[in-house]
Amino acid sequence: MATLATNALETFDVDPLDVSRAELYRDDTWHEPFAKLRATAPVYKTEHSAYGTYWSVSTYKPIVEVESLPDLYSSEAGGITLADFIEDSDVRMPMFIARDRPVHTGQRRTVSPAFTPSEMVRMSADIRRRTEEVLDSLPWGKEFDWVDTVSIELTTQMLAILFDFPWEDRRKLTFWSDWAGDIELVKSEELRKQRLEYMYECGAYFQNLWNQKVGKPQTPDLISMMIHSDAMSHMDHFEFIGNLILLIVGGNDTTRNTMSGLVYGLDQFPDERAKLEADPALIPNAVSETIRWQTPLSHMRRTATADTELMGQEIKAGDKLALWYISANRDETVFGEDADKLVVDRPNARRHLAFGHGIHRCVGARLAELQVGILMEEMAKRRMRVNLTGGVERVSACFVHGYRKMPVELTKY
Ligand code: HEM
Repeated sequence: MATLATNALETFDVDPLDVSRAELYRDDTWHEPFAKLRATAPVYKTEHSAYGTYWSVSTYKPIVEVESLPDLYSSEAGGITLADFIEDSDVRMPMFIARDRPVHTGQRRTVSPAFTPSEMVRMSADIRRRTEEVLDSLPWGKEFDWVDTVSIELTTQMLAILFDFPWEDRRKLTFWSDWAGDIELVKSEELRKQRLEYMYECGAYFQNLWNQKVGKPQTPDLISMMIHSDAMSHMDHFEFIGNLILLIVGGNDTTRNTMSGLVYGLDQFPDERAKLEADPALIPNAVSETIRWQTPLSHMRRTATADTELMGQEIKAGDKLALWYISANRDETVFGEDADKLVVDRPNARRHLAFGHGIHRCVGARLAELQVGILMEEMAKRRMRVNLTGGVERVSACFVHGYRKMPVELTKY
């Protein structure tokens, strides 16, 4: 059995069911250990891992149970990823995704108006225009990287619109978000410090934007919305920056990796691609199915606040639990034996857990669906087929589930 060394130079036998290992995602070999967990131990304790001891919750039902009991399973006690907070080398920026009630309720209510159906209608013309521009600038019959040219560009543009962020600096959003969301940094003190520096830089930049908007009439962007709201206007500097970073990270990697997952999935399943190309009315369902199939965030973490029991397992106060959406979205009892396949007309695709469940369910879900739906519609209008021309490079992490590089070439169908 292989052994692993942690920061503290402690060594231990690698648990083959330790699904927090980054290489499982880098190499796309996570399917088998999760299938084993679902079949034999849906609530399973890994004693030793790079993140310490944790429970893996890998099927649909117990994840819904945990997320339905937010007082018993806290988002605040230990944060929302398997990586623990480290005093001195991490910046504590409270975000409402990592707060419990009642603070969570008030802060979430502040940003929710930015994502209502009427806001989506208002934003959709802008999103479509930007998407058209990006698609019309692509080379046909020539290799390029889909991740950088399309997925990153479109999601970054959308965030810039949402925040009224200086257009020419918009790639800074991508840069900060990539650093903020990288939980693998837990393994290097030096990189954590580097991240801290970038987060301060991000904070200073946003503080400047904030200062420019304070005392001015409200405009329809998130910064102005936060300034003019009760819950948010009483926040201190760190809370304000933390919540901005939450919105950037929340809207960045996730939608980006759905857009890349779409191309990868359709390339893997040409029969499904043919179905979609023949019938664009399938697009809304295919959006949900792509999000299910990709599951851009593999897990969220909760910490038990009291001794309890979950599917026959004894959970102690203080235990940490990883809710593996990536596995629940492959749960055969919910999605059938073909759960590993992207099926554009899957009847229950919308039941996926990629947006989570309960009081923390993704606030940006509608915006993400809107962006991906528009991308698919505009590709269909251009009869654009995106073909992989080489191997993809994946993100090496158990939190963000996605792609770094995806060489492609466009053809017409
Ligand atoms: C929360 C996934 C897009 C902002 C979450 C959660 C997940 C998630 C799993 C936590 C749910 C839980 O703990 O139960 C996704 C996926 C997306 C996406 C898969 C794209 C396909 C977005 C976008 C935004 C956004 C576009 C905003 C621009 C947020 C925020 C929260 C959140 C602010 C915290 C909600 C709360 O704690 O109440 N998202 N997200 N997300 N997401 Fe998303």
